[in-house]
Amino acid sequence: DAGKDAGKDTPRNAADGRRLRSHQWYGSEGVRSFSHRARTRQLGYLPEEHLGKPVIAILNTWSDINPCHQHLRERAEAVKRGVWQAGGFPLEFPVATLSETFQKPTPMLYRNLLSMETEEVLRSYPVDGAVLMGGCDKTTPALLMGAASADLPAVFVPAGPMLRGHWRGETLGSGTDMWKYWDQKRAGRIGDRELAELECGLARSAGTCMTMGTASTMTSAAEALGVTMPGAAAIPAVDSAHSRMAAAAGRRVVELVHADARISRFLTREAYEDAIATVLALGGSTNAVIHLIAMAGRSRVPLGLDDFDRLARTVPVLADVRPGGRYLMEDFYYAGGLPGLLARLGEAGHLHLERPTVAHDTLREQLAGALVHDEEVIRPLDKPVAGQGGLAVLRGNLAPDGAVIKHISAEPRLLTHTGPAVVFDDYRTMQATINDPALGVTADSVLVLRGAGPLGGPGMPEYGMLPIPDYLLKEGVTDMVRLSDARMSGTSYGACVLHIAPESHVGGPLALVRTGDLITLDVEARTLRLEVDDAELARRRAEWQAPPPRYGRGFGALYQEHITQADTGCDFAFLSREGEVPEPYAG
Ligand code: FES
Ligand code: MG
Repeated sequence: DAGKDAGKDTPRNAADGRRLRSHQWYGSEGVRSFSHRARTRQLGYLPEEHLGKPVIAILNTWSDINPCHQHLRERAEAVKRGVWQAGGFPLEFPVATLSETFQKPTPMLYRNLLSMETEEVLRSYPVDGAVLMGGCDKTTPALLMGAASADLPAVFVPAGPMLRGHWRGETLGSGTDMWKYWDQKRAGRIGDRELAELECGLARSAGTCMTMGTASTMTSAAEALGVTMPGAAAIPAVDSAHSRMAAAAGRRVVELVHADARISRFLTREAYEDAIATVLALGGSTNAVIHLIAMAGRSRVPLGLDDFDRLARTVPVLADVRPGGRYLMEDFYYAGGLPGLLARLGEAGHLHLERPTVAHDTLREQLAGALVHDEEVIRPLDKPVAGQGGLAVLRGNLAPDGAVIKHISAEPRLLTHTGPAVVFDDYRTMQATINDPALGVTADSVLVLRGAGPLGGPGMPEYGMLPIPDYLLKEGVTDMVRLSDARMSGTSYGACVLHIAPESHVGGPLALVRTGDLITLDVEARTLRLEVDDAELARRRAEWQAPPPRYGRGFGALYQEHITQADTGCDFAFLSREGEVPEPYAG
């Protein structure tokens, strides 16, 4: 029996194993270590297979309900291959799946929960380093927030985008074309048969949304932060390069453990600024604002809305990817992917090239030789999609703590606009009444949705792209000014002012707006004003009553007691604050 005697003469831990965190579990002379070794034999491993080797936790967000991550069960095997090759000991941990398409009310409610699970799994088990696998929207920030708090060596493996969509000779983008064709159905331009065909063509393979939605925005941000293998973010989920990248990540994390290169070494202020510049150059999702601020909070890096606005004034949009542009992630990959885009940004002085990444001593070294193969998809600096980044931070009496708009996806005529408000107190009421002509909505109206913020939503659902009434769509109206304390899907578009803070639920000025009030949006001046005088607003405030708490118990209660507002990243205050957490292995 290979198990009975083998390993008898194996030293309990190689000398260098003693430096490993997992040595606390495996290496002591006490009964606990005896038990851990016995139980690892129970798992089917000989001591010489694992003792003294870095234990690499592979945190896998695979689930049957998550189409974006359906390949990750199999892909974890490639990561393990790499870990073994480099002399590590891989152990896969299933962690929560945040499926953007299925989870209600919104996976945003659970981002912090996955971040907690990530942090506590890494802390409470004999883990020396981690590979984080995910990509569907909130998964990326959640895993990185938890890893930043646990602060072990870690590499992020992005799930990768799905292949392009197809329908009757047209290329389809996930999200974006779903909204577009649904509107066409509502306007009577396509019927049930077309809709059924579209259902088959919109999402053809495993992988995350292949537009520049929140998923590709955040995995690209992770690559820009320097915590993925070079070029990882744009590799299509089902491309064989994805397996090779996964194995390389497994090999690399073992080396990071030996070098004691914890994730905090890479997640610096400079790295976060570069992630913002990257998101802007990609014309990425507005959700990145909330997520990057929350991630930076876990890294103890001060980062705020003003950093986004400042960088947005100088960083050009270079990626011609939907919803802001024409192409999809698959095209972006063939065009050179993130390395191509980052090289361009670096040339223009928009990046900090001397900072380290998990794969190279400097970002400069990582980007050396990176090429752009298609100048239509990744534009040259002198022919950008837009000269300024796709984001503006607005302030004013309606948003004292800020609001954001992705103005490249809005019709330019609306960027300076004054119109009468049509107010909806919640999403259900809005859905039930928006198409009623009696509301008197015109193309100049400003649609206002409240009760959709971090607490009011709850979880800031992606309601921010309020639907244009059917009868206006039929007249050919395709964009209107819309305001909310909600978020918007990265695949959405339009003149939508989002993340208004403080939200209405906690008594932000949005709670005081009444139908008929004039509202002025001026993106150039970065202002959002409610044209109602202060005395009247004070009167309305005196009448305002806080809504009762929604949750009496459970995770929802924890959430409502600790969630912060959009401008500070919607983390739980007890997770983002300073404070020591002891290591658990004593005894
Ligand atoms: Fe998962 Fe879009 S639904 S990335
Ligand atoms: Mg999304």
